[in-house]
Amino acid sequence: MCGITGYIGTNDAKEILLKGLEKLEYRGYDSAGIAVFNQDGVHIFKEKGRIADMRAVVDGTVTAKVGIGHTRWATHGAPSKGNAHPHQSASGRFTLVHNGVIENESELRVEYLQDVKFNSDTDTEVIVQLVEKFAKDMETEEAFMKTLRLLNGSYAIAMLDTEATDTIFVAKNKSPLLVGVGEDFHVVASDAMAMIEITDQFIELMDKEIVIVKKDQADIYNLQGEVIIREPYHAELDVTDIEKGTYPHFMLKEIDEQPLVMRKIIQAYQNADGNLEIDSDIKHAMAAADRIYIVACGTSYHAGLVGKQLIEKLAGIPVEVHLASEFGYNMPLLSAKPLFVFISQSGETADSRAVLVKVKEMGYRALTITNVPGSTLSREADYTLLLHAGPEIAVASTKAYTAQVAVLAILASATGSAKDTIAEFDLVKELGIVANAMEILCDTKEEFELMAIEYLPAAINCFFIGRSIDYFVGLEGALKLKEISYIQAEGFAGGELKHGTIALIEEQTPVIALATQARVNGSIRANVKEVAARGANNCIISMKGLETEGDRFVLPAVHELLTPLVSVIPLQLIAYYAALHRGCDVDKPRNLAKSVTVE
Ligand code: G6P
Repeated sequence: MCGITGYIGTNDAKEILLKGLEKLEYRGYDSAGIAVFNQDGVHIFKEKGRIADMRAVVDGTVTAKVGIGHTRWATHGAPSKGNAHPHQSASGRFTLVHNGVIENESELRVEYLQDVKFNSDTDTEVIVQLVEKFAKDMETEEAFMKTLRLLNGSYAIAMLDTEATDTIFVAKNKSPLLVGVGEDFHVVASDAMAMIEITDQFIELMDKEIVIVKKDQADIYNLQGEVIIREPYHAELDVTDIEKGTYPHFMLKEIDEQPLVMRKIIQAYQNADGNLEIDSDIKHAMAAADRIYIVACGTSYHAGLVGKQLIEKLAGIPVEVHLASEFGYNMPLLSAKPLFVFISQSGETADSRAVLVKVKEMGYRALTITNVPGSTLSREADYTLLLHAGPEIAVASTKAYTAQVAVLAILASATGSAKDTIAEFDLVKELGIVANAMEILCDTKEEFELMAIEYLPAAINCFFIGRSIDYFVGLEGALKLKEISYIQAEGFAGGELKHGTIALIEEQTPVIALATQARVNGSIRANVKEVAARGANNCIISMKGLETEGDRFVLPAVHELLTPLVSVIPLQLIAYYAALHRGCDVDKPRNLAKSVTVE
């Protein structure tokens, strides 16, 4: 969601900004723009749609060594060229890109900007107009700080001033932003991936900090103007991790990476005795809690639902799972000794972060399970467990989901062993079996493509049913299908269908049923019969040992608590092929953003 790039150095800024924006495409956006400085002044190029559309309007003859770039995911004002960033102040002196939401923009317009004519519907324009207003009576740096002190909400900002052509003014609050350091240049980027091709040295920024970025200097201040010293860190990112290679889509590459991710997780968490272990502080925090509150969004929330089963069964601690966007505004009664577990692939999701800030204020402990070391949710929680899944670029999350489930299993079993609540559970062995099963499924892709063609070619809707843990995987299968193929899909508890939803079943309605749990094998099959009797086009995916004749696919057997790790793969692949056959943009589905940095 919204990406920012900036460059100041000795090379042509244009191409560096554009390439950086392309690396940020995965975050989701609906318009893009860049602004560069040279001896003729500021040149702005922006366009609605893809970066390729914007590239087409960039004047190739303009060369410049300073510039800022932006991909916008619309919040205030429709996706349009006029609302695309960069935005300029009334006189054209200041040019600015912004990621985030300014909550008090209306009040600021009334109080300070009644005489200013606005050119867009964005909240961003308020920032740049305020800077211009204040800069009439003070230095730019001061005007910038004064403006920032007035803003309520979230922002990552990069700004140019025609009267300081050797500087990019940068600020951050809640929205992610990094400054990259090179030999004779500096860059600005929403994440390290955007600029990893030219530097692996990045300075982390904290909330309410500004940076005065020059070619060979980057000075950090707080909003009171006090100097802050912070050394750059080394970003451990492999450039090939963020390339598609020979794959047509990142999503397919990331689905295929899942067996490898399982093995990497085993390696990362294995101790000298060969057991899977977590930091003893985390184990103690888990064991001391009388209730775990898992808070997450989207796919991570679905992983949390599976995590509840794992923690309750293996560690014997009660767990509640909450959607972050609900929890913040409607907090349940908390137990006496809660521990909060935030699950977030990106570690930047604003809804989850809002809850983290609140529970920290209340004095509770928090653990973040994330794929991104150093991300906001990781920094601000007391403890972190990493997913080791490598960068996930496709908007539809796949390998992060299975990595989250695997790490939750490790968390549950390590806590369980410490508390002596589990009998024999050799998780290393079981996850090894899972990795092999995943490999078999990834090698059987054609089968799932055929299923997509058979069940979903002209479907207007689709149901995923299951019981117990299969129900939670069904929710994830439905989310995958709807987000990339735009087929209306619903995940449903098999037994609940007859209480309303079965009214939607018509001749040929696709119903995909999961049957991986011995305890409910009979009852989910009875539910399939109910929909079959009403004309549904059934597709049963069962597990070896539980199969019956007519099942469309039989999964290799894995431990019954770990079935989500394998049963989700056919659903990911069916969604992928359904979207592909409908001509959808698989990696960048409409209206969606990978990293949702607004609440
Ligand atoms: C967005 C993404 C989803 C993701 C959700 C939570 O909506 O499109 O794929 O599951 O955010 O993201 P997080 O990074 O917190 O896991």
